[in-house]
Amino acid sequence: MYTTRILTSSELSVAINLLRQGECVAFPTETVYGLGANAMDEDAVAKIYLAKGRPRDNPLIVHCHDQEQAKGIVLEWPLEAQILMDRFWPGPLTLVLPKRGLIPAAVTAGLATVAVRVPNHPLALELIRAAELPLAAPSANLSGRPSPTKVEHVWKDLAGRIPAIVDGGNTGWGVESTVLDCTMRPFRLLRPGGVTLEELRELVAVQESFGSVEKPASPGMKYKHYSPMARVILIVGQEIHNTMTEQARSYGNRGKKVAIMAWEEFRGDYPDVVFLTLGNTGDYRTAAASIYRLLRQADDLDCDVILIHGISTQSLGLAIMNRLQKAAGSNIIET
Ligand code: TXA
Ligand code: MG
Repeated sequence: MYTTRILTSSELSVAINLLRQGECVAFPTETVYGLGANAMDEDAVAKIYLAKGRPRDNPLIVHCHDQEQAKGIVLEWPLEAQILMDRFWPGPLTLVLPKRGLIPAAVTAGLATVAVRVPNHPLALELIRAAELPLAAPSANLSGRPSPTKVEHVWKDLAGRIPAIVDGGNTGWGVESTVLDCTMRPFRLLRPGGVTLEELRELVAVQESFGSVEKPASPGMKYKHYSPMARVILIVGQEIHNTMTEQARSYGNRGKKVAIMAWEEFRGDYPDVVFLTLGNTGDYRTAAASIYRLLRQADDLDCDVILIHGISTQSLGLAIMNRLQKAAGSNIIET
């Protein structure tokens, strides 16, 4: 057990010392909070898996402060990967490349590849630069729970399990980085995220490849994810409204507390439920920044069921719907 400290941006030196001593520290990135440890230290990395309760076969992303540091941990990178680094780093794009021997198997779950990115957050960059360590960091939530977009979320999941959290306020994107496997042609999109498929395809050929739960493309994709305590039901298709209303009534009649997640314009259609707003219709940035907070909020309000109004999968909608599908598991209603 740890007595977890919340550190301000002026107390970064405490976090740096902890990292250098082989401890793990939660820190903000531009996507979600990460739980970082020295990527070169197997014992430090083991503490990440322990604190999160994360399955050992799900590899971690290594966070670097610039391209040069990132290239120090990979064996080689194709020209197209260089183009993507130049265009999107620092930023929410993770590249999977062949790893160098110095990265311990604990980071990559024994794979011959390593996932690497340069986050676009001043505190994250400062921490990595000053500690002079690449940081292995998954999202700073308990395994299976929604990713944390503010310090309170990290606290709720990990207080007592880690020594410190660096407070950076709300994270900007709210969904995790895009994960792109650059070891195959065309490159494979393993997880949609902050950098959209459309943006990638302006520069390189990319094949969608999230795989299925039975045969995951990326080790992390086979696990139940982003789940609040409440039952999550995702409703998609042409007749969403009628199905939402029926479902809400049916659960309500059985004494269940219902929450509905939808664009703000639909608030008036659902007067008797907890309404979780995604923001103005088509504002994907706001929706992305809200989904994990809203899933946690439904739990805080003791909702039994969350009915989610599906949205378009264009642009950032692809990442949002991917996370909502995972939160819903098999509870997806096609209308
Ligand atoms: O935005 C983000 O990416 C956040 C912040 C903290 O940087 N991190 C994050 O990490 O989302 P995590 O551990 O929650 O997700 C990492 C994903 C998992 O799906 C994992 O399976 C995949 O990346 N991954 C990591 N290394 C891989 C590899 N060598 N090959 C294929 N997939 C890999
Ligand atoms: Mg995660």
